[in-house]
Amino acid sequence: MNPVIENMQKHVSVRDFKNEPLSDDTKRQLLIAAQSGSSSNFVQAFSIIEITDLKLRDQIAQISNSASYVNQTGTFYVFVADLYRQSQMLNEAGESLDGIKHMEQLLVATVDTTIAAEDMAIAAEAMGLGICYIGGIRNDISKIAKLLNLPKYTFPLFGLTVGIPASKNQVKPRLPQKIQVSTNTYDANKSTDLDEYDQTVSQYYANRESHPANTNWTQKNLDFFKEVRRPDVGKFLKEQGFSLR
Ligand SMILES: Cc1cc2nc3c(=O)[nH]c(=O)nc-3n(C[C@H](O)[C@H](O)[C@H](O)COP(=O)(O)O)c2cc1C
Repeated sequence: MNPVIENMQKHVSVRDFKNEPLSDDTKRQLLIAAQSGSSSNFVQAFSIIEITDLKLRDQIAQISNSASYVNQTGTFYVFVADLYRQSQMLNEAGESLDGIKHMEQLLVATVDTTIAAEDMAIAAEAMGLGICYIGGIRNDISKIAKLLNLPKYTFPLFGLTVGIPASKNQVKPRLPQKIQVSTNTYDANKSTDLDEYDQTVSQYYANRESHPANTNWTQKNLDFFKEVRRPDVGKFLKEQGFSLR
């Protein structure tokens, strides 16, 4: 097995960090990794805000319901999907902003930002560090935007904790490839054949050392999707200038 992939297979989200800041050199390398990914049409539609102010970090952690690990981690970045630069270019050129307001460009910015974060995550794990994405910042997305002085045509997508792990969960078993990967066409029958995987996930939750639980993958998804979550995100995106069309 290629050592990069071997390391990727060991990925777990870390929620228990040593209370040690990362060195400047480590952070420099992480940021280089984040900036090295592909970018749709080379628009590089993201910004990264490192939160070094511990009071601010705690405010973000409280909003995210993840105070213990966001406050304790080596460092914490907020990944911002960002078309503000492009809006300024268009303004200065006297062009309409319609080209950045549409849904397609919202997707472009979201994807660019996610690629940057995942490249940082892979780099961090290659350096023996642990990471956890914090989508919880969107629990109050307007408040986060205010705290970070975000301009129009930007939105805070998620945070990323990076630090030295104090402890780690066991790796979560992924979907079997036979139901997630197909050839030439989507196979709707296979993609929902979840009995075997539900058993595997149920065993994982029953036997894991920290927070064992009586659940399976289907149940987890039902719990997650049975209600509308973060209903104010759409309204916020409109306020930021996106048409959502
Ligand atoms: C975009 C995104 C947002 C996430 N937000 C949170 C979060 O707010 N809090 C948290 O504890 N974990 C968060 N996670 C971590 C997921 O819960 C985790 O990746 C998932 O359960 C799979 O577990 P693993 O990463 O250990 O394999 C997030 C993951 C992603 C990709």
